[in-house]
Amino acid sequence: MHKELSKFINDNLPLIDEKLHTVLDGVNLSKTLKESMAYSINAGGKRIRPLLVLATLKDLQADSKDALAVAGAIELIHTYSLIHDDLPSMDDDDYRRGKLTNHKVFGEAVAVLAGDALQALAFQMLSELKETNPADALRLMHLLGTASGAAGMVGGQMLDLEGEQKKLSLSELEQIHIHKTGALLSFCIEAGAILAGLESEKAENLKEYAYHIGLAFQIQDDILDVTATTEQLGKTAGSDTASEKSTYPALLGLDGAQERLMAHHQSAKEALAFLEVETSLLALFADYIVERQS
Ligand code: IPE
Ligand code: IPE
Ligand code: MG
Ligand code: MG
Ligand code: MG
Repeated sequence: MHKELSKFINDNLPLIDEKLHTVLDGVNLSKTLKESMAYSINAGGKRIRPLLVLATLKDLQADSKDALAVAGAIELIHTYSLIHDDLPSMDDDDYRRGKLTNHKVFGEAVAVLAGDALQALAFQMLSELKETNPADALRLMHLLGTASGAAGMVGGQMLDLEGEQKKLSLSELEQIHIHKTGALLSFCIEAGAILAGLESEKAENLKEYAYHIGLAFQIQDDILDVTATTEQLGKTAGSDTASEKSTYPALLGLDGAQERLMAHHQSAKEALAFLEVETSLLALFADYIVERQS
């Protein structure tokens, strides 16, 4: 990983984790529910989504006192999506982030509720922003609702389930990936742009970037499911093949998937040409997303 990116990650990870801990500290009605929510959040993960919110602001040479709250909110949504994605009725996976999945430890009912509560908490966080003007705060909530719900991640998850045991076309597969994974990643970039007060033309370039890294991220996830080990991933390798998922390697073969990955990587970097900063963190993130091995 590029030195500048690893420094950025090392500097910001503790701040993100501290924000998440503070928010979870406020959950007090049921000890078991709190433990279950904290279990999946504290299991770690790469924190790519919150880091992307912060990287967008930094590349735009802007700052916001609300950046960590927005970054935390998207990680709550993402973690909820993982807990539900792993349920027996969905991907039926036993390992996540190097540990047993939430339902394996707490049971299915608690895992469902922990996911529900993380989701609600994310919106609550956005309703409590301190510095952002109310119109922008509402835009953020609207965007998060769209990105995470039936028009975004949840809709994509539905298409993903319906695509099991089927041979889809490339454009059908793209629809799944754009929604189940791309929508939340796009939110991170758009949210950073809103917090930075970015004007609309440049925001369009960033949307283009986000679209391509969203696809690239899930293509690499599909590739790693085939090429990496369970230890490396912290989640069960080969899970997609076992559940006969529609994936890029299944449709195009590993070489074909790799080609699509690199095409989206290049398009993402091209979309960043307008950024007038010496080293763009977002460009480094695009590199990381296609090179990552876990
Ligand atoms: C996994 O996301 C789920 C997908 C959308 C592919 P990540 O690979 O970002 O998972 P964590 O957060 O690092 O565990
Ligand atoms: C996940 O896709 C998308 C989500 C919305 C969680 P996958 O099912 O491929 O994610 P992993 O491989 O289990 O992390
Ligand atoms: Mg899945
Ligand atoms: Mg899964
Ligand atoms: Mg996967």
